[in-house]
Amino acid sequence: MSSKDKMLITGGHPLVGEITVSGGKNTAVAVIPAALLCNAPCTIENLPDIEDVHALIDILRLLGAKVEYVPECYMRIDASTATGCHVPYSLTRRLRASYYLLGALLGRQGMAEVAYPGGCDFCSRPIDQHLKGFAALGADIHDRGGVVYAKADKLVGNDVFFDVVTVGGTINVMLAAARAQGTTVIYNAAKEPHIVDLANFLNSMGAKVKGAGTDVIRIRGVQELHGCTYTVIPDQIETGTLMIAAAATRGDVTIRGCIPTHMEALTAKLLEMGVRVTENDDSIRVRPQGIQRAVNIKTRVYPGFPTDLQQPMTSLLCMAQGVSTVSETIFEQRFKHLDELRRMGAKIKLMDRTVLIEGVPELYGAPVTVTDLRAGAALVVAGLMAKGVTEIYETSYIDRGYERIEEKLRKLGAEIRREPI
Ligand code: EPU
Repeated sequence: MSSKDKMLITGGHPLVGEITVSGGKNTAVAVIPAALLCNAPCTIENLPDIEDVHALIDILRLLGAKVEYVPECYMRIDASTATGCHVPYSLTRRLRASYYLLGALLGRQGMAEVAYPGGCDFCSRPIDQHLKGFAALGADIHDRGGVVYAKADKLVGNDVFFDVVTVGGTINVMLAAARAQGTTVIYNAAKEPHIVDLANFLNSMGAKVKGAGTDVIRIRGVQELHGCTYTVIPDQIETGTLMIAAAATRGDVTIRGCIPTHMEALTAKLLEMGVRVTENDDSIRVRPQGIQRAVNIKTRVYPGFPTDLQQPMTSLLCMAQGVSTVSETIFEQRFKHLDELRRMGAKIKLMDRTVLIEGVPELYGAPVTVTDLRAGAALVVAGLMAKGVTEIYETSYIDRGYERIEEKLRKLGAEIRREPI
């Protein structure tokens, strides 16, 4: 990846004010391919205007679907004209979630040829469980030359037991099973909010999905789905990133349009640190109260502490009083941000999958490089905390998942801008 600009942040300004969170990235990237499962127009609202969404539009158009997108309003997908089944690497390399085209195309027409995905490369991210699920439904799977070929004359519902809890695998099997013959039961399913949101979207199209949000999901396949209008849930990782940024700058920020119950694991840790967090029905306010203390964190599947907030949280803990530990249990090498934080004065030691962080009184600005989306969020948080100017390179990783991030932070008082390189 090679970005044409860099982000410049002059740290030390407390974020103050109100901000509305965008629609969920990880919901958006599942719901958009899901629209391929029906031959009538679907209108999807509250989609974030991010690079991953643009990459999916290009893929759907290549497959022959009609897509009309008015950012911040709606996307209308009419898949009745889609006949393609091949998605080349030139497109799948742009986003991880391109693997959802496998489930969506299998469900639609029993045939998919999708190149292995690109996206954020923070460690090996296998999709064996997705493929095992498709095979259980009767698909014949093989891969050659970096492309997964999946074919089924008829998909038939079956029991699928995941060996690991996988968000992507759960979503992919739900997509394939929605139009299979008979009932599919996914055991050891992931429970993330975007899985519930996808189930709600599928059910709005006439699918029969029950149990999403628990670890057993039942999908009774239907022959046909119909069009619908659907609004995706707010992005809990953007919400969390903004909460962390507020705490990191000792600001006073109200985040509107979020779902506070999705944030419980982070809220609990911020409270433990000594940050004041108050919740309303659809807003969260984060304010400082005295010293911020070190805490210990272990990433877990939902409703545990999300791996996607591990990196920004590490930045916040760099200036907490005492020694914190952050253990990553989902992606064993999601630590590429640590070297960059060290450049900024952080005292960090990585031992196996656990980061030991000794709080320092200050971080200072430095040139740093983003290596993946949430590493980018971590460096933005660190830049907001640091004394002086932080120059962030490879910003396109950030644009993959955060809508207009600098505009939002500037509105809260941050000194942040982009410059061409
Ligand atoms: N795994 C396997 N085999 C599989 C699938 C997963 O071994 O077939 C392992 C992975 O290696 C990992 C664990 O299972 O150790 C969990 O992976 P999961 O499948 O849940 O992750 P994912 O579907 O690839 C999604 C999000 C990630 C988020 C994780 C965990 C999308 C598009 N991506 O990834 O989001 O970190 O779930 O919650 O929804 C991000 O937003 O920055 C991001 C990376």
